[in-house]
Amino acid sequence: MDDDGMWWTVGELALASGVSVRVLRHWDAMGVVSPERTPSGHRRYGPAHVTRLYRAMALRRTGLGLRQVAALLDQEDPDPAATLRAHLVDVEEDLRRRSQLRDRLVAALESAEPDQLMKVIETMTMFEQYVHGYRSEESARLADQAGALVELLHGDTRFKPGERVLEVGCGVGAQTTTLASQSPGTDFVSVDIAPESLEAASRRVAAAGLSNVEFVEKDVFALPEREGDFAEGSFDHVFVCFLLEHLPAPVDALRRLRRLVRPGGTVTVVEGDHGSAYFHPDDDAARAAIACQVTLQRHAGGDALIGRRLFPMLHEADWSDIAVTPRTVYVDGSRPDLADSFTRRTFTAMVSGVREPAVAAGLIDPRTFDAGIAALRRTAEPDGVFCYTFFKAVGRRPA
Ligand SMILES: C[S@@+](CC[C@H](N)C(=O)[O-])C[C@H]1O[C@@H](n2cnc3c(N)ncnc32)[C@H](O)[C@@H]1O
Repeated sequence: MDDDGMWWTVGELALASGVSVRVLRHWDAMGVVSPERTPSGHRRYGPAHVTRLYRAMALRRTGLGLRQVAALLDQEDPDPAATLRAHLVDVEEDLRRRSQLRDRLVAALESAEPDQLMKVIETMTMFEQYVHGYRSEESARLADQAGALVELLHGDTRFKPGERVLEVGCGVGAQTTTLASQSPGTDFVSVDIAPESLEAASRRVAAAGLSNVEFVEKDVFALPEREGDFAEGSFDHVFVCFLLEHLPAPVDALRRLRRLVRPGGTVTVVEGDHGSAYFHPDDDAARAAIACQVTLQRHAGGDALIGRRLFPMLHEADWSDIAVTPRTVYVDGSRPDLADSFTRRTFTAMVSGVREPAVAAGLIDPRTFDAGIAALRRTAEPDGVFCYTFFKAVGRRPA
């Protein structure tokens, strides 16, 4: 503390609050708690900063992201209640799945029956069904990703009032809210094979005050159906985002989607391509960690390099008027928000999520993987650069 007892150095505050110096510095950079500086450039915290720090700690304990905490503390969030409601949806979803897992573990341990053990394994598989998984951190990552990329990926996606649009593989509804709010007069039907994601998506859309989306559990490989709402030609457009990369037969899926839209109807496809990631400082371990994600996704039957294949795949699936546009996310020190939301919390968070399976599969040793993640984080520093290209394609069902 200072002589007059009113100021704390970063080290003193770390000791008093239990928040590490590293985190205090990060929170300063993120605008969560930004202290004054002494003439020699050292941080000094006054009573108002300390009060704000304890408020920030309380908000963080609810699981909110740093950007959300900063916006709430600055009273810049236009609708704090909606932010907290959307967060509550994620927390409830996580609790529901964890409690299901706990019940099954208890039942399995109480019973020697092999079928109970199988149920536990099924539930665990549900957690890790995809390389990306269905955990609530994954939901938060997808939502962050959607927020950062909305304009870049979907700014030019609008549908006409009265049209019927099918979104396949909607997940937790990260893109659904954007689509439905950008085209309020359009009727959306959003489908997914994961019922727990559909429930989360439905709550997310309701929390956003949207009423033009219906959620239905469907597998793209079981469509179109012979009759009813999912019969051949029953939609004006189909939309898929980050779905084909997970499918074992993406061209078959694109053919099925073509049959679902009316003649003259369109498809919109958005996919990434991890081969498009390059950065400064360049780093072998970072590239090795990204390669683990690509390999694991291939082992799971998907393709993390699918963005570059959109045109040939749509062509093979007999779509016409195909147009593909690369959408590059470029991040440097002049865009600290994007460095946080995309480089750190979207791309690096996604790659770091495969640490355990990558190490378990013998693709990489833990030390190299961790060095790779540190190097990716390093690219989000003020003197770092990160580049990644998404691909957006549109096509038309021939008349
Ligand atoms: C990476 S998530 C993308 C979610 C969402 N489109 C987004 O951009 O945030 C992929 C989603 O596709 C769903 N999915 C995978 N295979 C599917 C299938 N055969 N039919 C329908 N949905 C499927 C998964 O359950 C998951 O929710």
